[in-house]
Amino acid sequence: MRAVQIDRHGGIDVLVLRDVPEPVPRADEVLVRTVASSVNPVDWKTRAWDRGPAFPMTLGWDLAGVVAHSAVPGFSPGDRVVAMSGQLSTGLGTWADLVAVPARILTAAPARIPLVDAAALPLAGLTASQALERVKPVPGERVLVTGGVGGVGSLAVQLARRSGARVDALVSRPAHVTAAREAGAHLVTDRVGDLPPGAYDAVLDTAGVHPGPALAPGGRYVSITDDPLPTDLPNAAKHQVREDADGLADLVTLVDARELRVRVGAYLPVGDVRRAHELFEAGGMLGKVVLTF
Ligand SMILES: NC(=O)c1ccc[n+]([C@@H]2O[C@H](COP(=O)([O-])OP(=O)(O)OC[C@H]3O[C@@H](n4cnc5c(N)ncnc54)[C@H](OP(=O)(O)O)[C@@H]3O)[C@@H](O)[C@H]2O)c1
Repeated sequence: MRAVQIDRHGGIDVLVLRDVPEPVPRADEVLVRTVASSVNPVDWKTRAWDRGPAFPMTLGWDLAGVVAHSAVPGFSPGDRVVAMSGQLSTGLGTWADLVAVPARILTAAPARIPLVDAAALPLAGLTASQALERVKPVPGERVLVTGGVGGVGSLAVQLARRSGARVDALVSRPAHVTAAREAGAHLVTDRVGDLPPGAYDAVLDTAGVHPGPALAPGGRYVSITDDPLPTDLPNAAKHQVREDADGLADLVTLVDARELRVRVGAYLPVGDVRRAHELFEAGGMLGKVVLTF
């Protein structure tokens, strides 16, 4: 079977699609035939930066596929499933034709969107929902999401609105303003200096942007980025995404209820994985880059 692996860190040229032995699932694992995955910043950072599991390393966190074999109750051949695999710490990459997935991270895929689109949900969705559990927006509050049309940001805007808070968004360029509004953001700007001073009870930062005077005194600030936390914000915290099949199942329910929309900007076959990295790293995407198998 095919897998996208790297044998060293570097540019897109280190990405290799090669034949590897098929995995043999353990008793607590389900063998999934991959239909699609998506590209997340962690994938290119793991490729480029000196970090991650031992070589040769299979990349990929998101998984949407069909059960090929299962001895685990609750999963049967033919089931459509999704998962987020914490590849960086576990070494289990999803960019392969077959993946032996621990059943504890697997859940049923959304029924009302194509399985390829569901590949855009797991990592970005879990990050958004878990980070918002730390932001804790409540009705009447005003919340800012930076990077409001990014993979995480666009889902965070939609999820934060469900809390009853008023949600605003900071985007990187004027061309992204309409998409942030469509996701449900109220005030949208591409200039941090245009944000109203002292307006925000909380900020979810997905873009590495200091909110400056826009954050109300004592306001909460939660970042998911690799940047060090600002030392001048006493209520600053970082969130690191965790594998969570139950949390993913909740997101699937919202997608099927049409209360959460995933957006795909490009579909590329796995053979074009180098192009997929290039496209994603260039920025400016509206919607995620999905790899199809
Ligand atoms: N801690 C965790 O567990 C975790 C989980 C997921 C992601 N992350 C990190 O969170 C970040 C976002 O992830 P993602 O998947 O959402 O990435 P993404 O899809 O690339 O989205 C980032 C968004 O931020 C925008 N942006 C960049 N600079 C900006 C600025 N100065 N002002 C406003 N918007 C700006 C980007 O616009 P352009 O494309 O136009 O530049 C893009 O729309 C990445 O650094 C990623 O590594 C962390």
